[in-house]
Amino acid sequence: MIVLGVESSCDETGLALYDTKQGLLAHALYSQIAMHEQYGGVVPELASRDHVKRAIPLLEQVLSESQLVLSAVDAIAYTQGPGLAGALLVGASLANGLAMALNKPVLGVHHLEGHLLSPLLSAKPPEFPFIALLVSGGHTQLMRVDDVGQYTLLGETLDDAAGEAFDKSAKLMGLGYPGGPAISKLAETGDPAIYQLPRPMLHSKNLDFSFSGLKTAVLTLVKNHPGELSLQDKANIARAFVDALVEVLVAKCLSALKTTGMKRLVIAGGVGANAQLRAELNAAAARKRFEVFYPELELCTDNGAMIAFAGALRLQKNPAAASFNYGFNVKPRWPLDAIES
Ligand code: KG4
Ligand code: ZN
Repeated sequence: MIVLGVESSCDETGLALYDTKQGLLAHALYSQIAMHEQYGGVVPELASRDHVKRAIPLLEQVLSESQLVLSAVDAIAYTQGPGLAGALLVGASLANGLAMALNKPVLGVHHLEGHLLSPLLSAKPPEFPFIALLVSGGHTQLMRVDDVGQYTLLGETLDDAAGEAFDKSAKLMGLGYPGGPAISKLAETGDPAIYQLPRPMLHSKNLDFSFSGLKTAVLTLVKNHPGELSLQDKANIARAFVDALVEVLVAKCLSALKTTGMKRLVIAGGVGANAQLRAELNAAAARKRFEVFYPELELCTDNGAMIAFAGALRLQKNPAAASFNYGFNVKPRWPLDAIES
């Protein structure tokens, strides 16, 4: 079965073809980062309009890379939510329109399920069950994953997501958008002994997170700093920020593994690309004897491959999930544990 995946929930247009026999055939991505950069964040209406421009050329690209014609596609999966309503509607319209024209089934996929299952696309995939840490721009959640569609929420952020904290702190320091890669890079040259930032909810005895206080602590540092921040000052703050955030994320992962008795940890979402987080988790895994799995780096942030793949797994598990009803809705707010298994 060949599944076309369409991702358009935020500022990346992603198209991909996944074959249940041969694996990922092709995936193509257009990132709108450069367009939104001048505004310091994603402008929803601009995002929607750009998805309209990019989707068809990307579709043509994945078809030509896999040397397939459109009629070879057996089903179409698209991100139905959560995300920006207008942006989601572009992908949903494309997917339903194509499916209708081809008389093929269509399937709405949960964006976070895409992230969550993306490590299964890597060369060393984890087996079920596992604990998943979802760390993206909009979400920070710990889930117990027993199978495709069987997700139990163990804890989540009470305010800002980890990626959001990266993005907002970067903005406060005058770094570009998105903040994650910029802060991570700067942190490499920062001195860890200069600043200490709070570790929110480190000892909260539950699996919830809170990152808005960390961002406020960065704001206080920036405001109270005499004169302009030098590049080295920024690097020192970035280092303190990453140290604090990573320590909390790692501690909560260890706690989730301990309380559930699981031995496998999966990291998914954009912040999963963070080198320091990976280094600390790898060290903890060696120390505490558990396994940690990541998506391929290029599949950490939003992409169409994870949507094609999640769609294919869902259809394999439950062929009745394929719909020939081409009337669609999108779900800008959609909790992952509310999806049908
Ligand atoms: O999963 P994703 O691409 O989109 C959402 O579903 O939100 O995640 C985007 C987030 C942004 O907040 C970005 O700053 C962060 O992931 N990010 C990183 C890194 N690369 C992307 N954060 C820390 N370190 C990175 N290397
Ligand atoms: Zn995402």
